[in-house]
Amino acid sequence: MWKDKGMGFVLLQLQILSFIFLSFVNSGSAGVTSAFVRSEWPSTDIPLDNEAFVVPKGYNAPQQVHVTQGDYDGKAMLISWVTAEAPGSNSVHYGKSENKYEFTAEGTITNYTFYKYESGYIHHCLVDDLEYDTKYFYKIGDGDSAREFWFQTPPKIDPDAPYKFGIIGDLGQTYNSLSTVEHYLQSGGQTVLFVGDLSYADRYKYNDVGVRWDTWGRFVERSTAYQPWIWSAGNHEIEYMPDMGEVVPFKSYLYRISTPYAASKSTNPLWYAVRRASAHIIVLSSYSPFVKYTPQWMWLREEFKRVDREKTPWLIVLMHVPIYNSNEAHFMEGESMRSVYESWFVHYKVDVIFAGHVHAYERSYRISNIHYNVSSGDPYPIPDKSAPVYITVGDGGNQEGLAGRFRDPQPDYSAFREASYGHSTLDIKNRTHAIYHWNRNDDGKQVPTDSFTLHNQYWGNNRRRRKLNKNHLHTIIARVPLTDGMRRWL
Ligand SMILES: *[C@@H]1O[C@H](CO)[C@@H](O)[C@H](O)[C@H]1NC(C)=O
Ligand SMILES: *[C@@H]1O[C@H](CO)[C@@H](O)[C@H](O)[C@H]1NC(C)=O
Ligand SMILES: *[C@@H]1O[C@H](CO)[C@@H](O)[C@H](O)[C@H]1NC(C)=O
Ligand SMILES: [Fe+2]
Repeated sequence: MWKDKGMGFVLLQLQILSFIFLSFVNSGSAGVTSAFVRSEWPSTDIPLDNEAFVVPKGYNAPQQVHVTQGDYDGKAMLISWVTAEAPGSNSVHYGKSENKYEFTAEGTITNYTFYKYESGYIHHCLVDDLEYDTKYFYKIGDGDSAREFWFQTPPKIDPDAPYKFGIIGDLGQTYNSLSTVEHYLQSGGQTVLFVGDLSYADRYKYNDVGVRWDTWGRFVERSTAYQPWIWSAGNHEIEYMPDMGEVVPFKSYLYRISTPYAASKSTNPLWYAVRRASAHIIVLSSYSPFVKYTPQWMWLREEFKRVDREKTPWLIVLMHVPIYNSNEAHFMEGESMRSVYESWFVHYKVDVIFAGHVHAYERSYRISNIHYNVSSGDPYPIPDKSAPVYITVGDGGNQEGLAGRFRDPQPDYSAFREASYGHSTLDIKNRTHAIYHWNRNDDGKQVPTDSFTLHNQYWGNNRRRRKLNKNHLHTIIARVPLTDGMRRWL
């Protein structure tokens, strides 16, 4: 079984030790299927004339304002907005104090059609050379219609920089979506990691598809104008609608959302990476080619090599389709990507992988399934300390409603699952500790629904352990398989 026979005995001991350890951990917190039953509001979209979608006052006023990180390290912002009537000003005026805009940047303007819908004028403007850890005020639009916002730049890249991320997925534009965003606004989150499926405009036909992208842009502006949302795309962004003559995948998404893909040497806005404070965030596209030799695969291979855990200890991956999911909805849809990338996730000790797609909440134990090779090998997920924690947060509250049917019995890999709406936060404290929390929308009472301390996969508990890992234990621990055979035998 083991190539290095001399290591066999040590490995066996390690296996037994890790089995005992893991049994202890597992029996302390066996997989939980939450019994919570929410009082669900109807999963219908908010009506068009609702104030959630209010068009800002004034002729041609900028609307649907959203910002995202504009470079690799957080010293730039990409600011985007739409003007409805005319192209209008394409400038961003900005500075460090309110009403005093010392700097100006010029953006680009684009527009597109979708069926017979004609979009407004979509502006994207890169504002760079910013100072770290600084509040900037910015102003867009002309004359009386001008609008002002602000954002805070992140601290400079530093292994101990604290930073609080929010995680939102599958948002849509229902009253549940609104509740999710309002709860998130109270969370103190500084940047959103968005795991795909934005507007659900593709649930509509003809011109309403474009119309519902516009309402969504106005709806999320309450957050997106003030802090970056790091975007990843889901299946609802594909909008392959041949019956309407629309066959270019991701058309609306790519016109409206800009990402800093070139800064991470990506050649496609759908996959890229950014570094922010103490985190390295990799965004993948579940619906773009990802198998060996495709551009996404080639890029990811190189990006993993660029990760420097000494500078950014926290390695986070975003994707739309979860790799481990025990809901009946979308069960095993992540298998294809799992078979291609899981060994990298384990090898590079990714801390946590966030996904959406399934309209429920679920968190896994650290497990992997990388030993099966079609001809033989262990075909089951097994406890693996080098594996990421997989978290599905596809519960933003869109009009398709909840995925309420979990598979029974709960698989060993599933630690906690609940079919509710909500969002998560990842509160990074320093290089070793982050506090993770899933916030159910009904949490007006601040009930901690699922929260735990995430220990960094690279820095571990202390420096000595990290050094040991780095030298020789690394490869051994990474490959300790705990097979069902082992369990029976023990
Ligand atoms: C973009 O806007 C220009 C100017 O209003 C218009 O002539 C053109 O048809 C629009 N293009 C698309 C693709 O909608
Ligand atoms: C598949 O796994 C088995 C058992 O671990 C191993 O003996 C075999 O060499 C593997 N085959 C390949 C092609 O990796
Ligand atoms: C890191 O943060 C955790 C949680 O707040 C704290 O207990 C620990 O002492 C911190 N470590 C250092 C080195 O500051
Ligand atoms: Fe989805």
